Amino acid sequence: MDIVIVGNGKIGHAIAEGLRRARPSWPVRILGRSDDCAPAGEADVVLLCVKPLQVRAALASLAPALKHDSTLVSVAAKTTLAFLRELLPQGVGVVRAMPNLPVSELVGMTALACESDATGIACAETIFSAMGRTVRVEERLMDAATAMNGCGPAYAYVIVEAWIDAGIKLGFSYETSRTLVAQTLLGAAASVLASDEHPAALKTAVTTPAGCTIEGLMQLEDGRIRSTIVRAIVAAAKA
Ligand SMILES: NC(=O)c1ccc[n+]([C@@H]2O[C@H](COP(=O)([O-])OP(=O)(O)OC[C@H]3O[C@@H](n4cnc5c(N)ncnc54)[C@H](OP(=O)(O)O)[C@@H]3O)[C@@H](O)[C@H]2O)c1
Repeated sequence: MDIVIVGNGKIGHAIAEGLRRARPSWPVRILGRSDDCAPAGEADVVLLCVKPLQVRAALASLAPALKHDSTLVSVAAKTTLAFLRELLPQGVGVVRAMPNLPVSELVGMTALACESDATGIACAETIFSAMGRTVRVEERLMDAATAMNGCGPAYAYVIVEAWIDAGIKLGFSYETSRTLVAQTLLGAAASVLASDEHPAALKTAVTTPAGCTIEGLMQLEDGRIRSTIVRAIVAAAKA
């Protein structure tokens, strides 16, 4: 599969790095603003990784060059399939993707939405599942996906930062605390993905009656952690 990434910013670079690691044999080129867009005309899949307000201008030069059976996968937030379709020639498939930056570490999470005929979605799934997990969602949920997994790493980093501070307060070095926290979160996430149990059941299994875990959980509840997280993500989805 011949892939061209248009936009050498944060997410374009993360996808290029992820594909280089996951599929070193795939020809992947990344084009910046000043590059000739001719390679996009030879690509099977073009990943459009520009800001939403840059999409129209980028497609004005790209669209006429695209192969008629190629697929354009746009990662631009809030940019609808209908808007993209109007700017593309007939025959070019169009898919929306909402990945996150950990695609570079091959643990990305990408939501995908496509038109009703599903053209191009298989290509997009092949690309993004090489760098983590994918889910197909209805297009109406793509803004929600932006808030859930696109922005999600930022929320996790705030929790990680505070948790590392707790370790430092308790006497660990920054490096040791960072390892304790990041690996613990990785383990908890792996347990959730590997198990059919609800997270509440997994939590109960860790919580000894009258033990220290319940003390910590009570403090989190006093801080309204659940409603704070729900409100934060709903607010991001509406922004
Ligand atoms: N960052 C994330 O975590 C993330 C996650 C999921 C989705 N997204 C989506 O990904 C898109 C890009 O976000 P980003 O964070 O990567 O932004 P970014 O770092 O600003 O990258 C955008 C890049 O596209 C370049 N560009 C603009 N017009 C171009 C053109 N016509 N041809 C080639 N390159 C062009 C920009 O160049 P200049 O600097 O010269 O303008 C810039 O390097 C956004 O629509 C965002 O919604 C981002």
